[in-house]
Amino acid sequence: MEKRNQAAKLIIGAIVAILALLFIGGIVFAKPMMYHLKNRDQIGPLTRDDIVYQEVEAPAASSEDGTVNAADWKNVGGMFKEIAVTMGDNDKNTYIVDYLEQDPYLVNIYEGFGFAKEYGSARGHEYTLEDVAKTQRPHANANCLTCKTPNFAKLVNDQGVGVYTMSFDEVMANMEESVSCYSCHGNSAGNRGEIEITHSYVLKALGSEASAIDPATLSCGQCHIEYYFTPDDKETMMPYHSVEGMTPEAILAYYDSMVLPDGTTGFADWTQESTGARLLKAQHPEMETYLTGKHAQLLNCADCHMPIEQSEDGTIYHSHTLVSPLADETLLSTCVQCHGDTDMVEFVHRLQERVTDRETATGNRLSAFNDALTEAVAAGKMSEEDLNAVRKLYRDAQWYFDFCYVENAEGAHNSDLAFRCLDTSDALIEQGMALLGN
Ligand code: HEC
Ligand code: HEC
Ligand code: HEC
Ligand code: HEC
Repeated sequence: MEKRNQAAKLIIGAIVAILALLFIGGIVFAKPMMYHLKNRDQIGPLTRDDIVYQEVEAPAASSEDGTVNAADWKNVGGMFKEIAVTMGDNDKNTYIVDYLEQDPYLVNIYEGFGFAKEYGSARGHEYTLEDVAKTQRPHANANCLTCKTPNFAKLVNDQGVGVYTMSFDEVMANMEESVSCYSCHGNSAGNRGEIEITHSYVLKALGSEASAIDPATLSCGQCHIEYYFTPDDKETMMPYHSVEGMTPEAILAYYDSMVLPDGTTGFADWTQESTGARLLKAQHPEMETYLTGKHAQLLNCADCHMPIEQSEDGTIYHSHTLVSPLADETLLSTCVQCHGDTDMVEFVHRLQERVTDRETATGNRLSAFNDALTEAVAAGKMSEEDLNAVRKLYRDAQWYFDFCYVENAEGAHNSDLAFRCLDTSDALIEQGMALLGN
C-alpha cells in the first residue's frame, strides 16, 4: 500500500513537473512553438489561408515612368520587404545550358534563324534585361522587350501599340528593372494578393476567357506562353482566344489560316533558305502545356513554384524566388497530399528522361528530313508543287517537335502532350521522307 502511494505521488509529481515545464516553455518559446504548430511536419504545409494580408497605400514611384519598383516596395517594410528580398534572390538562378552544344541537330533545324546561332536555356528573372541586351540574336524592334521588363509594359499601357515598332536601342536605354512587381500586380503590388494583368495583349487575345484562368497562373502566362508579332504593327500577340485554342494543333491551324498584309495566307517566323520552307519557331508554351494537363484544375503556377514561407518575425507570404519544386523542401511537401509517399524527385526525373530521350530521337530524325529536303531542293528534279507538299510536312513536323522541345519543364507539366507532339512529328517526318523517296 505504502509503495503504491509513493509510486502514485511520484507519477503525479512528474506530470505536474512536465505540465509546468510545458507552460513555462510555452511562454518563453511562444514563437518557435507557434511556428512548430504551423510547421508542415505537424499539420501540413502553410497555405494561402495562413497569410495575413497587409493593406497599405502604394509608395510614390521613384522611377522615371511612374512604375512603382521593387525598391519602393522594399521601403514599405513588412511582407513587402520580404517579398522584394525574395524576388531579388532570383539572381541566384544562374544556370544556363547551351542547347546548340547539347543538341547539335538544332543548328540544322533552325538554319537561317537567330536560334541557330545562339540558344541558351532561361535563367532567373533578375537577368532578363541583361540577357536581352547581350544576345547575338538580332532585335528588329522594341517588341523584344515585351517579356523582359515592367517598364515596357508601362510604356505600352501609357502610349499604345506604336511603341512595339520603336527602335530597340532607344527604348532599351530607358528600361530600369527586370521582371518586377508592376509586371504582375500593377502599381498596387498585391496588397490583398490581387494580381493585375498588365500585359495588354493577354486581355486582347483572351477577352472574357481570361477570367476563366486562375490569376496566379495567368500572371505567369503573360510571358510563359507561345506568342507572335502581328504582321502589321508588330504587336506581341497570343495565337488563340480561349483555353481550348491552346493546343499545338489549334495554334498551328491559327497560324496556317492567318491572312498576311500581302494577301497570302499562312504566318511564318522565317523562310528557310536551304529548304525553302516557311517555318514557325515555338517559344516557351508553359501556360498552354500546363493548362491542358493533369494539374490544370487542381493547382496554379504559384502553388508549385512559389513556396509559402514564414519569416523570423512570423510574417507569412509567398516567396517570390521562383524555384523548381524539386529543389525546394516546402514545395515538395505539398505534393504529398495527392501523391502520397511517392519519391517525387525520382518520379519527375524519370518522366523527364523519357521525354528528353524521345526528343533527341525525333530531333535527329527531323534534322535528317531537313537534309533530305535540302538535297531535293538543290537537285531541282521535283516540281515546285511536290516540293511544297513536303515543305508543309516539314513545317508541321518542326512545329510539333519545337512545341515540346522548347517547353521548359521537359514533360513534367504535361507528359501526354509531350509524347503526342513527338508522335505527331515522327509521323509527319515519315510521310515527308516517303515523298522524298527515303
Ligand atoms: C514579364 C514576363 C514574365 C513573367 C510575368 C513571368 N516570367 Fe518567368 N521568365 C521570364 C523570362 C524572360 C525568363 C528567362 C530569363 C533569362 O533567361 O534571362 C523567365 C524565367 C523563369 C524561370 C527560370 C527558368 C530556368 O530555366 O531557370 C522560372 C522558374 C520562371 N520564369 C517562372 C515564372 C513563374 C512561376 C511566373 C509567374 C509567377 C513567371 N515566371 C512570370 C519572363 C516572365
Ligand atoms: C511574376 C509575377 C509576380 C511578380 C513579379 C511579383 N509578384 Fe507578388 N504575387 C504573385 C503571385 C502569383 C502571388 C500569389 C497570388 C495568390 O495567392 O493567388 C503574389 C502575391 C503577392 C502578395 C500577397 C501576399 C502573398 O505573399 O501571397 C503581395 C503583397 C505581393 N505579391 C507583392 C509583390 C511585390 C511587392 C512585388 C515586387 C517586389 C511582387 N509581388 C512581384 C506574382 C508576382
Ligand atoms: C504540379 C506542379 C507544377 C505546376 C502547377 C506548375 N509547374 Fe512548372 N514545373 C514543375 C516541375 C516538376 C518542373 C520541373 C522542374 C525541374 O526539372 O527541376 C517545372 C518546371 C518549370 C519551368 C522550368 C524551370 C525549372 O526550374 O526547371 C518553368 C519556367 C515553369 N515550370 C513554369 C511554370 C508555369 C509558368 C506554370 C503555370 C502556367 C507552372 N510552371 C506550373 C511543376 C509545376
Ligand atoms: C491537388 C492534388 C495534387 C497535388 C498537390 C500535386 N499533384 Fe501532381 N498530379 C495530380 C494528379 C491527379 C495527377 C495525375 C495522375 C494520373 O494521371 O495518374 C498528377 C500527376 C503528376 C505528374 C505527371 C504529369 C504528367 O502529365 O504526366 C507530375 C510530374 C506531378 N504530378 C508532379 C507533382 C509535383 C512535383 C507536385 C508538388 C510540387 C504535385 N504534383 C502536386 C495531383 C496533384
